[in-house]
Amino acid sequence: MKALILAGGHGTRLRPVTKVVNKHLLPVWDKPMILYGIEALRDSGIKHIIISLSYVNPYGFMELLGDGSEYGVHISYLHQREVRGIACAINEARHWIGDEPFIVYLGDNIFVDGIEPFIRRFTSSGASKPLVLLKETETMDEARRYGVAKFQGSEVSKLVEKPSEPPSQHILLGLYCLTPRFFELFPQLKPSGRGEYEITDALNLLMPVNYGVYEGMWWDCGVFKDITEASQFMMVKGEQK
Ligand code: G1P
Repeated sequence: MKALILAGGHGTRLRPVTKVVNKHLLPVWDKPMILYGIEALRDSGIKHIIISLSYVNPYGFMELLGDGSEYGVHISYLHQREVRGIACAINEARHWIGDEPFIVYLGDNIFVDGIEPFIRRFTSSGASKPLVLLKETETMDEARRYGVAKFQGSEVSKLVEKPSEPPSQHILLGLYCLTPRFFELFPQLKPSGRGEYEITDALNLLMPVNYGVYEGMWWDCGVFKDITEASQFMMVKGEQK
């Protein structure tokens, strides 16, 4: 199964650094952020990774990763034409992915305890229904920064992007196991108020979706505070080895 890592985006919350460096090449403790995703996918048995890039320093990725063989995977690169949200970036990768189930990994997410059980669950169930990862936040306030799940009983009935009044404390993490139906339904999507094709809107069209709850440490390194926290965590983890 192929995985698509999204590493485009403007990284606006990390300016001015991201005017010259792609967010995913910034260090999280002792290595570039993108390597956490590549290693997590490789350790889940993914052999072919497609990296979707924007115009901010795309060459840095190729210098760092090359064809991926140093990291035990095969990497292809795709240049995003438009930077208009996660769902749009996935749709642009359609021809690279082909007509088969696939994994999408947001390149700024770090899953300390890996993602292998979730990918295994998706593949062993026949990969016929999308699977998303959720995590319970400590506070309702924290949930406002993310996509948030609304439940009906134990099923996810809807996902809401950055709600001012979150319907739960279960946020949507940046790993989506998807089916090619995504591409059939994409034309129905409309840009949100912030002008983006939202992944939450796409998942709502794909309902019902399965979900797993991630209990391990996780960061979305979209702001300096989270990059710093993740770096400190990795430093202490490394010292304890
Ligand atoms: C994106 C998604 C959001 C998700 C988050 C996880 O938000 O839109 O649904 O909860 O990633 O990292 P962004 O990081 O683009 O603000």
